[in-house]
Amino acid sequence: MPTISRIHAREVLDSRGDPTVEVEIHCSSGAMGRAIVPAGASTGRAEARELRDGDPARYDGRGVLAAVANVNDQIAPALLGFDPCRQSELDQRLCQLDGTPDKSRLGANALLGVSLAAAHAAAAAGGLPLFRHLNDLWRQAGTTGGAPADATFDKDMAPRLPMPMTNMISGGLHAGGNLDFQDFLIMPVGAVSYSVGLEWIVRIHRRLGRLLTEAGFEGRLVGDEGGYGPRLPDNRQAAAFLVTAIEAAGLRPLDDVTIALDVASSHFFDGSHYRLRAEGPVRPDSDPVRLDSDQLIDRLQALVDEFPITLIEDGLAEDDWDGWRRLTSRLGGRVRLVGDDLLATNPDRVRRAIESGVANSVLVKLNQIGTLSETLQTMRLARTAGYGCIVSARSGETEDVTIADLAVATAAEFIKIGSIQRSERLAKYNRLLAIEEHLATCAD
Ligand code: PGA
Ligand code: ZN
Repeated sequence: MPTISRIHAREVLDSRGDPTVEVEIHCSSGAMGRAIVPAGASTGRAEARELRDGDPARYDGRGVLAAVANVNDQIAPALLGFDPCRQSELDQRLCQLDGTPDKSRLGANALLGVSLAAAHAAAAAGGLPLFRHLNDLWRQAGTTGGAPADATFDKDMAPRLPMPMTNMISGGLHAGGNLDFQDFLIMPVGAVSYSVGLEWIVRIHRRLGRLLTEAGFEGRLVGDEGGYGPRLPDNRQAAAFLVTAIEAAGLRPLDDVTIALDVASSHFFDGSHYRLRAEGPVRPDSDPVRLDSDQLIDRLQALVDEFPITLIEDGLAEDDWDGWRRLTSRLGGRVRLVGDDLLATNPDRVRRAIESGVANSVLVKLNQIGTLSETLQTMRLARTAGYGCIVSARSGETEDVTIADLAVATAAEFIKIGSIQRSERLAKYNRLLAIEEHLATCAD
């Protein structure tokens, strides 16, 4: 049995140059695991709280030395001698040590760093690729309290490559353009494999850059997640450019490649209305258009009618549950309706959505809930209710590739990593290429 002999955290930087927490866990056998925590910009209110120092003299207050100290001084002594393979007990211990519902005392960034480093250490101790170890945990999450595993269960729970859902055009809080919607993405749904889908994505991304430049828009500089950030006149135009780029790449919109939107609407919801800037001709001095939930649903439906859109994330705001119910009954049969800010990878919120007929898919971000076990529990709950799962990166990322292994381990339908620019994104796309090769050639 491997036992934890040392836990050490340090402050490192993420893709925006913001400090974040890195954790190493060493076992007495010599096995070691390491993880780095990501960070969001368009964070939801229901997310677990990351701890930031708030000292304006360092990194504009965004330092994480307190979270690092919490790992080194409070968490490490409590977990020495622990078996890192016992992930759910370890995560329960982390939650007990923190003692708050939103993990704000020790910091969700402190807790998640330890939780994920433990999984890496356990995989290393067992000589397993991380996705195999995570798949074992996923199977355990599926059998706890349930029926014993049978052949169908085994097939359902087998590791599988996800389809990428890739950012092409960025707006909202992620880019300097004027688009209200945060991401315009593509999904190579007709590709026979992950690697073929990835080649299509790169081809479309290149064609899109050229098309934007030729039309006089910014087609080179990229936003936080690597998507282009052109100042297009409205959200509709962004979808239209995607269709043209898919065709320019020699592919068929809808059959080969579909479009997804991350509306991220919580960020332009004022409590009663949605305030959209980029609807109609751009007039920098003009007031935003104010729409109520039903009017925004009408606009979304019009986009779905006009374009090959098969997925909409956060079409309505995180607390607009009544609107979400109407959105789901209007469009839930036609497109995947994904809750990000709405569900916050939180089992309680996912349960409420299932019970009230809201959304049909869950965006999964480990740092929204703060431990690996709770993330698996949320995914399990979603899967059992027939909801889809999309494992997602954050806009602030690092070279850590854990989510690639998580998506494969849980056979998530899609993975959302950002665009195919910037190495913190490519590290994950490349990890999936390695796993695809591994699954094709290795029996373990
Ligand atoms: P975030 O954005 O990481 O800034 O929250 C990603 C998303 O909204 O899906
Ligand atoms: Zn989102």
